[in-house]
Parts: sequence; C-alpha cells; structure tokens
Amino acid sequence: MLLAGAGAAMTMVVATLIERKRNGGALAPAEWRELITAYTADQVPDYQMSALLMAIYFRGLSPEELAALTDAMLESGDRLDLGRRTVPAVDKHSTGGVGDKTSLLLAPMLAACGLMVPMMSGRGLGHTGGTLDKLESIPGFRTDLRLREAEDQVRRIGCALIGQTPEIAPADKRLYALRDVTATVESIPLIAASIMSKKLAEGVDGLVLDVKTGSGAFLPDPEMARTLAETMIGLGEARGCRTVALLTAMDRPLGRAAGNALEVEEAIEGLQGRGPDDLMELTYALGAEMLLVAGAAADRRDAQRKLGHVIESGAALDRLRAIIEAQGGNPAVVDDPGALPQAPVERIWEAPVAGIVSRVEPRRIGRAIMALGGGRMKVDDAIDPAVGFVITARPGDLVARGQPLATIHARDDSGARAAAQALAEAIVIGEPAAPLPLISHRITRDGVEPL
Ligand code: URA
Repeated sequence: MLLAGAGAAMTMVVATLIERKRNGGALAPAEWRELITAYTADQVPDYQMSALLMAIYFRGLSPEELAALTDAMLESGDRLDLGRRTVPAVDKHSTGGVGDKTSLLLAPMLAACGLMVPMMSGRGLGHTGGTLDKLESIPGFRTDLRLREAEDQVRRIGCALIGQTPEIAPADKRLYALRDVTATVESIPLIAASIMSKKLAEGVDGLVLDVKTGSGAFLPDPEMARTLAETMIGLGEARGCRTVALLTAMDRPLGRAAGNALEVEEAIEGLQGRGPDDLMELTYALGAEMLLVAGAAADRRDAQRKLGHVIESGAALDRLRAIIEAQGGNPAVVDDPGALPQAPVERIWEAPVAGIVSRVEPRRIGRAIMALGGGRMKVDDAIDPAVGFVITARPGDLVARGQPLATIHARDDSGARAAAQALAEAIVIGEPAAPLPLISHRITRDGVEPL
C-alpha cells in the first residue's frame, strides 16, 4: 500500500508523488484514490497537499488523472439516494456572478414541472453572490439540512435547496478551503473536479451548467470558460449524467437586483411573471435545457411552454412557498416583500451626465456589496442580508442627466456614500456599448453550437 505505515514513511511517499507531478509526470488512479482517502482521514498534512495543488496548477492533469481525482473526491463521502423513482432528477450549476439568482427561480419551476431537483449550492465567493446566502435572507430559512433530511424533502415536495452537507464530498470541502488560501483556485481541472464531485454526489440524471464569461466572471476569458465547460461535460457524461452547458454573459449584473434579500424579492417577481427580461430569458433557456436533459420535454418549444405554464398557473410560486415552509422559513415573503430584511437607508443614484450607458461593471458592484456588508471578507464574517443595489441602467441605454439609474440599499449614511462612489465607477456613460450576447454558446458532448 502506497500510503500505509508510520507517518514518516508516508510523508516520504507523498513527497515522491508531489515530485512526479511537479516534473510533469502523472499519478496512477490507485495513487489518487489512496492519496485522497488518506488526506480525508487526516493522514496527509495540508503543507504537502498544498504543494501538490500548486504542482497541479502549473502542470495540469491528464484526462485519466482528472477522472481518478474526481471519482476519489466523489467517493470520499456519501451520495444522495432518491430511492426507486419514476421521475428524473436534475440540477443546474452556475460558475457565479453578480445578480445571478436563476437558481431561486429554476428550482421551484422544475419541481413544479414534475422533476426532482436536489439543488446543492454554495455561498458567496469573492465578488460573486451565493444562493445559500440569498436563501438565508428569508427569515428562518435553513440551508444546513443533513443528507437524509434533504432526500426526504425531495421525495415529498420535489426539491430541496441545500448547502454541501458534511456527508457530500468531504475531500472537496477540505481541498477547496486549502486552494482558497494557496492561490490554487483558478485551475480548470481542480475547478472541474471540485464542482463535478459534488454534483455527481446528488445522483442526478441530468445537469445544466451556466458557465459565465466576461469581466465579472470567475474565469473572464471565454476560451477558458469553454474549456471548463467541456471538461465538466466530459466528466458528467462519462458517469451517466447528461450534461449540457450554456456560455452566458457576466460583463454586467444579471437582472436589476444585486444583494441577498433584494435578489430573493426579484426572483419572486420573476415567478410572478414580472421579472426583468434578461433574467427571464436566461432562466427559460436554462430551464429548457434542464427539461431536455431529463427527457421531460419533446423539444425546446415544448420545454418553454411547460415553463411558461408553471409560472402563469402560479404552480412554481406555490412550490417555492412549500420549499420555504419545509425548510423553516417564513413563507409570507412570497406575497409580502416587506417580510424580507429591509435596509434602513435607501438612496436614488442619478446619471451624472447624459449619454449612452457603455458599461455596468459587475466586479465593482460585487465588491461594493461586500463593502456594504452583504458579502464576506473572511470565511466566518456575518453578512447583512438587506444591503445592495437595484440598478435599472443597462449597457446600451440612452440616459438623460439626472435620470435615476439605481437605488442604493445601505445600513447607514457612510455605507450609502461609499456605494454611490462605487456606482460612479461601475456605471460608465459615454463610450460605445458592446455588451456580450446574453447566451453565446451551447456546449454538449457533441460539440459547441454558437447561438
Ligand atoms: N466552485 C466550486 O465548487 N469549486 C471550485 O473549485 C470553484 C467554484
């Protein structure tokens, strides 16, 4: 056994694995398995794993190594067991952005279409928001369900909105925390293994990936975003999970609201058929792909019709109410946005000059939300659910001087002043606008389709 024996011997063996990877060689599947098992059992120190992660960052992984690492991470924990079912299970994953609240709409919509949606999401990361933080702005809402509780809820009402439980891919949880502090997050194979080990543990039949590109995306470069999508599709398809990706724009915030409770309110408006156009277009496009990978729609038209029906009939909104109730939240938020946390200071921000809005820079907006207290600087920071922005200006809009373009929601005056400065930097008026297409490509196991 590679890693058996006393600490000193094991440390030496791990050092040879690091050395091989550092020199551009490959580790065998059995070596990945043993290494990840030993790391999860606290038998490999973080300093060695950090060195290996940095070697992977520079050298990459062969397809065989990536498959072995993903499987080892997946097998480091338990999987969701949805029992004997006649209904397909699907999920969606977004690589993250600012104002991206599509999960809050899609989970109840797809459950209302009759599918099982065991949706596992994350917290805000850097300037990007996280679905768990948004959900927790609903008074009482619990995202920390244990695995068996989540399974039971999905069987009962078709959906659970949860965080990574301690049972799911524990190796990923530890590796991700290490990557975060060792500058090894931005590695395509490590990102792909991390995301797919968790998604595959949900036991879903189909997965739709929303891979963002543009200045506010985790990977702003479209080529890297496409490679990440292709890598994740390869991992999913090889493990029996139909996986499709859409490449979508994150060179401006999605929708109007950015900030936790404000985004919940906008998602509810979307489920009431009153959402902003870009949010609804992307939600329908992702939802149609989810129905298609699940084999629950004949074609895209049929899928769009089904999605439209659950919004118009109120079935999706009812399902959101049921999910909130099941997870301990106050379902009154669905009918009364005043039941969500409210920021005490609201300020209108007006266009300082007339002209065409050329950019609304999402990174600047995301960082301003963090500064307002709506995101975390450190992992254990508490967040203020009420703060954020509602920005009505879109790239390409012609605006008059003094026209209201945004509302700031802040805890106090000094927060509102800093937020106004952030808007002055983020909203650029005057240069030509060249926003990215909202949905640029559809990627499947068969190739890349420009849209
Ligand atoms: N999200 C994840 O879950 N893992 C990564 O590596 C990056 C984003």
